[in-house]
Amino acid sequence: MTNEELREGFIKIYGDEGEIRGYMSPGRVNLIGEHIDYNGGHVFPCALKNGNYAVVRKRDDRKLRFYSANYHKGGVYETSLDDLRKHDYSWTNYPLGVIWALKEKGFEVTHGFDIYIWGNIPGSGLSSSAAMEVVIGTMLKDYFDFDITPIDIALAGQRAENDFIGMNCGIMDQFASAMGKENKAIFLDCATLDYQYVPLDLKGYKIIVSNSNKPHSLVTSHYNDRRKECEQALADLQSVVKVDALCHLTVAQFEQYKSAIKDEFCLRRAKHAVYEEERTKEAVEALKRDDLVTFGRLLNESGDSLKYDYDATCFEIDTLVELARKQAGVLGSRETGGGWGGNTVSIVKDEDVASFKANVSKSYKAITGLDTSIYELEVGEGGRRLF
Ligand code: GLA
Repeated sequence: MTNEELREGFIKIYGDEGEIRGYMSPGRVNLIGEHIDYNGGHVFPCALKNGNYAVVRKRDDRKLRFYSANYHKGGVYETSLDDLRKHDYSWTNYPLGVIWALKEKGFEVTHGFDIYIWGNIPGSGLSSSAAMEVVIGTMLKDYFDFDITPIDIALAGQRAENDFIGMNCGIMDQFASAMGKENKAIFLDCATLDYQYVPLDLKGYKIIVSNSNKPHSLVTSHYNDRRKECEQALADLQSVVKVDALCHLTVAQFEQYKSAIKDEFCLRRAKHAVYEEERTKEAVEALKRDDLVTFGRLLNESGDSLKYDYDATCFEIDTLVELARKQAGVLGSRETGGGWGGNTVSIVKDEDVASFKANVSKSYKAITGLDTSIYELEVGEGGRRLF
């Protein structure tokens, strides 16, 4: 939707009077560094051009009214600033969680809003929930002149997920949504939140995103279990070596001390985390020197580790990755994001993109019965006011 269409959409639901403002925050794709943001590791995501849009008008009372142009069957959902708890009506919990998280930090929202949401992030697995949190945080900062940075907004989004929604995510998605830069990926140290923008200029190649159309819900998936397994592995390692996060161990240290990890599954999760950290740093270096062959190989290794050691894939994703790797001109392919469904990223030679799309979607449909949508990654800007 254009800004004008968004404004019209709002007016149709809530009427024309008063000042109306519009905001946008993108979804994200992670290139490499999976499931290590919560293990003190480095990640390498970028923001999408697609995202969640919020058109908003301030109210004089404490009512909060929500309407989604995507799920309009629900109509207008009304609640109040005096009722900041998880409601049954699920998507509104993300905005409510951010209002709650900011309040916990001392930034209190003192009047209500009429909120109209529209999103164009395709399928699941590209962080539409983080985009929702960041668009609301960006809007609240603007309206109340809160003295907070985009990184604070990302942290409030993560807090909302962890302590309001109950999804124990790391900081990657909200950070990418708040801090994204056009045509750049973000090399982020999740332990310190130091970051560096790296140009995404793949000479002769494209980054292709393929959606498995296998929906995933991280709240109900094994995501929180994986976090616990990593914590257990860390606790075991701490009995023999001084370390504060799995990703702060070198591969050599891990190999030296790994026998301290008692449970076989915890051992495999820890192995993924330690090696993924190495791969991520190496991949960023490879990209900086235009060594796309190495970059692609590391993507493959990351994908295999997610499949075999982290057990975070599923039949549909495995199929999509396998098909992608068989195509001409492909340097690497792997699952991206939280896992157990969602999307893959592949590095494909320019002139092979058309046959990649045709072959992968045809075979994927034949094997899984599902359609896939395949498109070239377009990297956009982080959360901002539009009008
Ligand atoms: C989800 C979480 C992130 C991150 C990824 C896996 O997207 O929200 O914090 O852990 O999974 O890399």
